[in-house]
Amino acid sequence: MKPLATRTDALRQSDIRAVTFAVNRVNGINLGQGICDLPTPDPIKQAAIEAIEGDRSIYTAYNGIRRLRAPILEKVQTFNRLPAKNDAEVMVSVGSTGAFVSAVLTLCEPGDEVILFEPFYGYHIGILKLFGITPVAVPLSRKEWTVDFEALEAVITEKTKAVLVCTPANPSGKMWTEDELATLLNLLQKHDLWAVTDEIYEYMTYDGRRHVSLASLPGAYERTITLSGFSKTFNMTGWRLGYAVGPEEVIAKMGLVNDLVYICAPAPLQYGVADALPMDETYYDQMLADYAVKRALMCETLEACGFDVTWPEGAYYTFANFERLSKDRPGFSDDREATNTLINNSGVACVPGNSFFANPEDGRYFLRFCYAKEMDVLEDACGKLRGAFSQGKL
Ligand SMILES: Cc1ncc(COP(=O)(O)O)c(C=O)c1O
Repeated sequence: MKPLATRTDALRQSDIRAVTFAVNRVNGINLGQGICDLPTPDPIKQAAIEAIEGDRSIYTAYNGIRRLRAPILEKVQTFNRLPAKNDAEVMVSVGSTGAFVSAVLTLCEPGDEVILFEPFYGYHIGILKLFGITPVAVPLSRKEWTVDFEALEAVITEKTKAVLVCTPANPSGKMWTEDELATLLNLLQKHDLWAVTDEIYEYMTYDGRRHVSLASLPGAYERTITLSGFSKTFNMTGWRLGYAVGPEEVIAKMGLVNDLVYICAPAPLQYGVADALPMDETYYDQMLADYAVKRALMCETLEACGFDVTWPEGAYYTFANFERLSKDRPGFSDDREATNTLINNSGVACVPGNSFFANPEDGRYFLRFCYAKEMDVLEDACGKLRGAFSQGKL
């Protein structure tokens, strides 16, 4: 048999699946996978049911139905403060991941380099590599997750095409400040680079922080593709609906790529979300209030267990450091062992830190816990963690 394409050589099932398997075996609670088990809001479900019953079953426009692009345009103008002017600057895709695929295929040649920040979201790296694009990771400072702009500028080469910013970030919870984004923009302009921003967690921001979109800064919109979607905000990761916003010429090309790769996003589900938008402000307020309580519970629990925690500024993950535990507890010598130790002794799963670093060794003392869970499930998980540490099991 002729060999499979070499682009598949490095593809492996991530640790996250193995963790899911292990935690299911002990009937435990999975705080590993970044999936949210909260219900999708009723108005969206009802509108989608009506769309299905109304036979909204055929391909839509390749860039999404107008009825959905219009409220997205309004949202990015008001919430994100982007200078987008018409719905031709909006493209709906199969999740923000579909929009990301369309963006990188539109911007990058094989061999180009894309700079991103570490710890990173694994799919960003995986997708870039799949298309022969080289990800170049710039480490954020370890505790506060600040950006070293000199280090960033030092890795810019002739081959650099774009910088990828995830804010609020998975897994660190870092939110880029307006100052940081302005400094980044100077570099983008100086070296004539594109920016792609992943803003999927834009509504989960804590302690009164305001989400800032790079493309809202003067001079940034023309070189930025802003990605977001509905998966996280409306608890509908499996519906696969997301979008990109940017300059019309770029979005037009991205739409053509999106057409070839996906044809369109799921038709009845597009109608479902379109007809339920805009959602009432109270929805967002309540979501944020709930996540703030869950963040506190998760972070306080991990601190009580001996982890060092930089509380996330946004998103819904706690990226906890256990280097201190590794010194005086058996079973915590590295991230994989610590994950197994927690699964076997507390019945709670997390993601080993190596998944978020180019050099796995850099993630050796980190674990990611996802707190996008129903409150009773999260309380149960936190009780199990505290119990395991206090009863001397660990
Ligand atoms: C940073 C980030 N971007 C994108 C996604 C996936 O988004 P979507 O469901 O819109 O493809 C995730 C999911 O975990 C994520 O953490």
